[in-house]
Amino acid sequence: MGLFDKFENTATLLKGLLAASPRDPFSVSMDEMKGPTRALVDGKEIVLAGTNNYLGLTFEEAAVEAAVEAVKTSGTGTTGSRFANGTYAAHRQLERDLAEFLGYQHCMVFSTGYQANLGAISALAAAPHDVILIDADCHACIYDGCQLSGAETVRFRHNDPESLDKRLSRLSPDVNGKLVCIEGMYSMFGDVAPVKEFVEVAHKHGAHLLLDEAHSFGVFGENGRGVCEADGVRDQVDFYTGTFSKSLASIGGFVASNHPELEYLRFSSRPYMFTASPSPANIAAASAALARISDDNSMRDKLWSNARRIHAAFTQLGFELCADVGPVIAVKLANKEQAFMAWNVLMENGVYVNLAIPPGTPNATSILRLSVSAAHTDDDLDIVVNAYTALSHLLMSKKADA
Ligand SMILES: Cc1ncc(COP(=O)(O)O)c(C=O)c1O
Repeated sequence: MGLFDKFENTATLLKGLLAASPRDPFSVSMDEMKGPTRALVDGKEIVLAGTNNYLGLTFEEAAVEAAVEAVKTSGTGTTGSRFANGTYAAHRQLERDLAEFLGYQHCMVFSTGYQANLGAISALAAAPHDVILIDADCHACIYDGCQLSGAETVRFRHNDPESLDKRLSRLSPDVNGKLVCIEGMYSMFGDVAPVKEFVEVAHKHGAHLLLDEAHSFGVFGENGRGVCEADGVRDQVDFYTGTFSKSLASIGGFVASNHPELEYLRFSSRPYMFTASPSPANIAAASAALARISDDNSMRDKLWSNARRIHAAFTQLGFELCADVGPVIAVKLANKEQAFMAWNVLMENGVYVNLAIPPGTPNATSILRLSVSAAHTDDDLDIVVNAYTALSHLLMSKKADA
């Protein structure tokens, strides 16, 4: 008996799966980046179709230049938390810019999106009188925020406002604050939440709604403000959380709100107070990306047209897809073993996607998660479609042999 016994199951599972896999999907190294959608892996150029670079802004000239300039003028790191010496004028400016872009009065920038959710949820809800209600498929950082808060946490069925309604109806009248947590678009399957219905149900019961638009910021809504904008309820969302690590092509996170009490989180949120603030380069890159998103809808249009093309091609190839057209297009495979094999086939054909297997996936499914970027060229998409065509032929021939 010892500290390491708990790793035995993981070790056995990995050993079995990797024995039959020419490559390890969980330790791919991008040896040299060739742009937002290409990298050299083991000496071979690969199309990157498993990133969160939805708008393809990681090599955006203005963002790169702003980051370089910020390093020259403000240094490589802040060496302190937002609460102490780690708030620069640029952090404050980005908070104002995000608040203005999203149409909220208050915004707090955190060091990552993970910490934004962790910090918001753990500071807003507290034991013993508050209750958090979360969608069963929420991201790990939302679950971790619940745990850090210590408040009672109740899960409701994924994307099911009726299930939330029932859970809220059953709460004891002694409950004080109620915080409902959902996401705009879910990252694994790419399915979208009925945000409008959730807002209605939450507010009917006097609960506050926290909406994580990590994967939908910049992508959904007429101006890229997320699923809540597309649903026409942006101003009714109590707490809007997001990340810089996807459409904003940097590192960092934020919480925005019209509740003035958000400002008190600067004095009570441990993940805000007890970690170093985002570096000047990260802030400068996110600010430049935000300026680009505010000024230019063409990237979003390109993203959606790329997504439509891939979704239609995969549907025609007969793959079982997890959601409607969107920036995440996930294909369901029969089991873990088949998913490993399929992932390797795509790599052999020059395409990197994300392999996701239980327990990290909803409903214990094994999937290949492809994400579309506005930076994908027609050439990139041709390579992707050819690789999936090769995979579909292989799966069909294996089925015929079985
Ligand atoms: C839904 C969701 N929220 C938050 C995060 C955390 O973002 P970050 O990478 O900035 O920590 C992620 C990251 O994948 C996510 O998928």
